[in-house]
Amino acid sequence: MSDHYKFINTPLPYAYDALEPYIDELTMHLHHDRHLQAYTDKLNELLADYPQLHDMSPEQLIRYSGRLPSEIAVPVSRNAGGVYNHRFYFNAMSPQPQRSPSEPLAKAIRRAFGGLNGFKERFKDAALSVFGSGYAWLAADSRGRLFIVPTVNQQTPLTRELIPIVNIDVWEHAYYLKHYNERGKYIDDWFNVMDWKRAGELYAQSPRRPAPRQ
Ligand SMILES: [Fe+2]
Repeated sequence: MSDHYKFINTPLPYAYDALEPYIDELTMHLHHDRHLQAYTDKLNELLADYPQLHDMSPEQLIRYSGRLPSEIAVPVSRNAGGVYNHRFYFNAMSPQPQRSPSEPLAKAIRRAFGGLNGFKERFKDAALSVFGSGYAWLAADSRGRLFIVPTVNQQTPLTRELIPIVNIDVWEHAYYLKHYNERGKYIDDWFNVMDWKRAGELYAQSPRRPAPRQ
């Protein structure tokens, strides 16, 4: 599938009701069909008159936003972020998730957070700490070290030279219909559908270069 202009709203990899009872069907419809659709449409609209950008993926548009034509740089990076972040979020969940990380990600989680429970605690704190709209991410650096990174609005860890492994959308549209204003309960439910298989694949593909000798 092509991943450049003209972008399409890629379908969910599972049914809209597949994440019930943790994430409800109506929220998934609105989130995918309206919110992600709007970012996709806006990105296409912004890029329509810039054929030199038509072979770039959302990730490339985010990474190279500093080199985009100045009149569209900010809205393109915001909307490319909206597309990238939402696809990442939807793909990070599964109705039949792997419940815990495999090696080598499990080892990196033990090293960074003391284990899965330590990770969950720190990740939940980070997701709760996002003021207003944004995401919490598990991301790796080029040596395979793990970091928990909160981001606001549609920013991503890509611009910090980090490799995204997992994200959770904590914009209110991700949970308000079911969880109202209780973001913590949504995060607890989300842990039941986040898929460690996909996270492990992304981590295994990341560079993980050894630290240089002193
Ligand atoms: Fe969202």
